[in-house]
Amino acid sequence: MRARRLRRCQLAVPGSSEKMMTKAASLDVDHVFLDLEDAVAPSAKVGARRQIVEALNTLDFGKTVRCVRINDLDTHYAYEDIISVVEGAGANIDTILVPKVRSACDVRFVDRLLSQIERKFELERRIGIEVLIEEAEGMMRVEEIAAASDRLEALVFGMGDYSASQGLDPKAIAGDSGYPGDIWHYARYKMIIAARTYGLDAVDGPFVNFKDADWFRVECVRAKQLGAVGKWAIHPSQVAIAQEVFSPSQQEVDRAYKAVLAYRDAQAQGLGAIQVDGQMVDVATVRLVQRVIDQAELAGIKPSAGI
Ligand code: COA
Ligand code: MG
Repeated sequence: MRARRLRRCQLAVPGSSEKMMTKAASLDVDHVFLDLEDAVAPSAKVGARRQIVEALNTLDFGKTVRCVRINDLDTHYAYEDIISVVEGAGANIDTILVPKVRSACDVRFVDRLLSQIERKFELERRIGIEVLIEEAEGMMRVEEIAAASDRLEALVFGMGDYSASQGLDPKAIAGDSGYPGDIWHYARYKMIIAARTYGLDAVDGPFVNFKDADWFRVECVRAKQLGAVGKWAIHPSQVAIAQEVFSPSQQEVDRAYKAVLAYRDAQAQGLGAIQVDGQMVDVATVRLVQRVIDQAELAGIKPSAGI
């Protein structure tokens, strides 16, 4: 059984910055990933492993999911990243995030290595895996990647690297090329279908212009509309926005419970379709709003009294 975790926002935190890791532990954020990859300069990567182990073993992250992003498997860092952080702080790690995954083999490699370390150190909790889909090859093989391991919990769309990998025109990414619609629509859609098929969380990657809160919100809404459960933040100022957008509103929650309860009564009376507040409710509607209820339960949002 896969662990269910809140991922409305995943905050990127450089593993070489003690200050930012300490700050991250104090924030009300669903998930943080302590980074060994792009946020850390090559000269600081080896030292950052020790800094991350220290942070995980000494800071109190409360309910926040604790994740470590390793370097990609084509580098010589990756295997030692996993060994050092899991041997050093495995009991305090919830998931490992693997960047630039290209195929199911990449996921299985990490899975096997984790199994060995968990066995040796008698870790009681199984560490989950999250992967970044940010290579054209990874996107092409996203279905086999999503099915690769029962440790897998989430797929993250990394639009920066993905755009480079596919060769998208930088002007189009900046939004001034006249390209109609969302340039990442197909990629987001495809990855989310694969995630949903295998019961994984789909998460939308970073938005680098962190001073532009309005556009960040637009990107959160787009991802949510397609079925993502959350988005990355690279700066603390983005956290509350993502967590708000990816939480169902009280009105949505109340409506969902009302529909489900009314439908249950109707079924007991032998009815298949009913009317609730002027709208038809049937088994498909119930299925659609069940997702709102699932998310509300995970986020601790209860229906209003009297529903
Ligand atoms: N996690 C935790 N704390 C962070 C943070 C982060 N990602 N980004 C900024 N902060 C802290 C700063 O240390 C500062 O703390 P203070 O008020 O105690 O001094 C506060 O939040 C405000 O930061 P600010 O001064 O506005 O920004 P900055 O210039 O310090 O940092 C970045 C800007 C972009 C360098 C920084 O946000 C960052 O490194 N982000 C993550 C980058 C990353 O992980 N990239 C890879 C994944 S895409
Ligand atoms: Mg990347």
